[in-house]
Amino acid sequence: MNRSPSTCEELVACISAEGFCKAVFSSKKTSFSPRKVVVTSLGQRLKVESFQTRRCLTSVLSHEELLPLVLRSIPLFKQVDLFFANASCHLCLSSDPWKSTWNATAVHKQLLTHNRIKPYLFPEGEAHPFLCALGVMDRKGAVKAAMRRKFVQINAFLEAIGDLLDHLCGQKRSLRIVDAGCGKGYLTFALATLLHEKLGLDAEVIGIDSRDDVISQCRSVRDELSMPYLDFRSASIGSFEDALAPDLLIALHACNTATDVALFKAVQWNTEAIAVAPCCQHELAPMIPAALCPLIFDYPIFAQKAAALLTDAFRCELLSACGYTVKASEFVDPDHTPKNILLKAVRNGKRRPLQPEFCKLRHHLPSGILLERLLVEKGLV
Ligand SMILES: C[S@@+](CC[C@H](N)C(=O)[O-])C[C@H]1O[C@@H](n2cnc3c(N)ncnc32)[C@H](O)[C@@H]1O
Repeated sequence: MNRSPSTCEELVACISAEGFCKAVFSSKKTSFSPRKVVVTSLGQRLKVESFQTRRCLTSVLSHEELLPLVLRSIPLFKQVDLFFANASCHLCLSSDPWKSTWNATAVHKQLLTHNRIKPYLFPEGEAHPFLCALGVMDRKGAVKAAMRRKFVQINAFLEAIGDLLDHLCGQKRSLRIVDAGCGKGYLTFALATLLHEKLGLDAEVIGIDSRDDVISQCRSVRDELSMPYLDFRSASIGSFEDALAPDLLIALHACNTATDVALFKAVQWNTEAIAVAPCCQHELAPMIPAALCPLIFDYPIFAQKAAALLTDAFRCELLSACGYTVKASEFVDPDHTPKNILLKAVRNGKRRPLQPEFCKLRHHLPSGILLERLLVEKGLV
């Protein structure tokens, strides 16, 4: 066996933990593997179902007999999904033994620390109507494999902006929120559902996207689910104007410079709180002279990553100069998306000049980022 035994022990500990319901080993690695093995908690004992091509072998094991079963199963499958009373998690049983060990250890650590995995805001196993209508879950509340990353991202994004929602609720009785570049509306529906159904707040949520097809899909799901507080507009973020400015602007992976346009609009509207998770920053990379730091910029992969970091750092500095208190963090594990940086900003109203450090760097670049150009054009920075 090419795996560290600690991997198996960690998994066994998860399966023996309080609240454990079911483990599903699936995605077989070898032609002789069963299709899947399902381990279900029967309290003091465990039911094990091994699904072969034409039949299912069932046995009942004690917890002491679990370790040999897990040792046998790990080399046969690529993944295991663990379901607990209020949470679930997905482990890759990769061909790299260290990766599996690391993942399993992380889960076990969570179980040991909190005696449970923190449940998602929209937990798996509950069929949330909007997640079913958008094709993220099936009618039994199981997350579809292809939608798992998006499911985790929207839960994590909402979790990460809890402090902004608290801040806004402390100030206003009814909220107005814009989701810039909403796409198929996964986050837009989730936020509207969270505010209305879970928190009982009065809030209008508006999703904007330049693609007519996704907006009309979002509208039909909205109508089907009778969510009149949710609006979808087909418009480019830059041209979107409305009588009332939003209290919160969010953007999840608005492509390239669409994040800059969204941030600019938020500053122009004096939006109280902002949360953006940027995506694929292509603008700065070609204009950075390698001579700025050959140790980095002589290597294309470092140059690309450094340019993305610099873009976000510039965005933070520009927002700070426009009177915002800004925080940058990772909102979700990079396993779920490498685009996991979240910039959060709350208006403090204290405008200030751009810092000399920004100006020194900026001096080496022909035009800077779009957010700067838009703010300068309107005299906002
Ligand atoms: C990567 S998708 C993300 C969608 C959604 N936020 C999500 O996370 O599922 C980016 C979306 O932004 C939209 N978009 C890009 N630039 C835009 C702009 N300037 N104005 C409005 N929408 C834009 C695209 O049409 C696309 O639907």
